[in-house]
Amino acid sequence: MIIDSHNRTFKTLRISLIGLCNLGCVYCVTNNEKKPLYKKKALSYLELIDIVKKLHLLLNLKTIRLTGGEPTLYPQLVEFIEGLSSLQLDIKMTTNGYNLEKLINPMHDAGLKHLNISLDTTNENTFKKISNRAKVHKILENIEKCKEKGFNIKLNTVIVKGINDHEIIDLLNYAYKLNIPIRFLELMKMGHLFSNEHEKYYFSEHEILESIKSEYSITKDIRTPHSTANYFSLNNHKYKFGIIANESEPFCSDCDRLRLDISGNIYGCLSDNQPIDISEDFNNEEILRQKLHIALKQKQNDSFKGSMLSMLAIGG
Ligand code: 5AD
Repeated sequence: MIIDSHNRTFKTLRISLIGLCNLGCVYCVTNNEKKPLYKKKALSYLELIDIVKKLHLLLNLKTIRLTGGEPTLYPQLVEFIEGLSSLQLDIKMTTNGYNLEKLINPMHDAGLKHLNISLDTTNENTFKKISNRAKVHKILENIEKCKEKGFNIKLNTVIVKGINDHEIIDLLNYAYKLNIPIRFLELMKMGHLFSNEHEKYYFSEHEILESIKSEYSITKDIRTPHSTANYFSLNNHKYKFGIIANESEPFCSDCDRLRLDISGNIYGCLSDNQPIDISEDFNNEEILRQKLHIALKQKQNDSFKGSMLSMLAIGG
């Protein structure tokens, strides 16, 4: 068994398909940088599928989440999903929703049924400030189209102090009206925020809850094991929202996530993310097992320590 002394193993595989994004969010990039942060060799999607199958044999995975950068920019996205669908796992994707329109039907037909869509604002001016781009309405329209199509959707909202912290209630109301769970994320010390500006932009779970309590009464739910989010019910309603408090309430103790990038590196932790290259030897079960043990040792015991890599490079 690949399990550590805290009873942790890998059940969720997050695959970062591309180190590029079509938005330039303040927490990911500086100076509207669009280049990948580091050069990488890319395996073909067929090789990646092979790796996933070998990992699944050893780990009996439950979920595969496709991330990026922005996974909709990965040219073989639909073929990749099709290739994974034979594994009969839950396939999920985290996307900024900007490019989704043409992919909605093909992705759904290929077997993708779960989407986390990042939405930091519904306001055009704020969208410009956060993402350096225009036309947030494209995302809003795509969210509704995905809902109509029957996708299981969650919204991810990073709260950035001084930019969108005054829109928490608007965002909550937007999600509540559509009956889509929204999760507010505390800003994490990643990429350029590792050494700079994290404090300036950080808005805590406590502060997020205070904002919401000004409008609603809420009750905290019991946390589901392995969940990234704390969930809360709006009183007298079935509707729930979540907070991903990686900084103030880290969830390392039962983390079950393993990351894989397009070069065939695995990572056991967002914090201690030295790449472990399995591209040459994933067919050798014994070596793969050993490398998974090394990845498991990367997991932190208590809290997220930050990372020099941004989500652009390692995925959400
Ligand atoms: N802190 C918190 N969330 C982040 N994301 C990207 N970078 C950060 C950060 N430094 C979010 C994205 C997306 C999810 C994958 O993580 O906006 O919703």
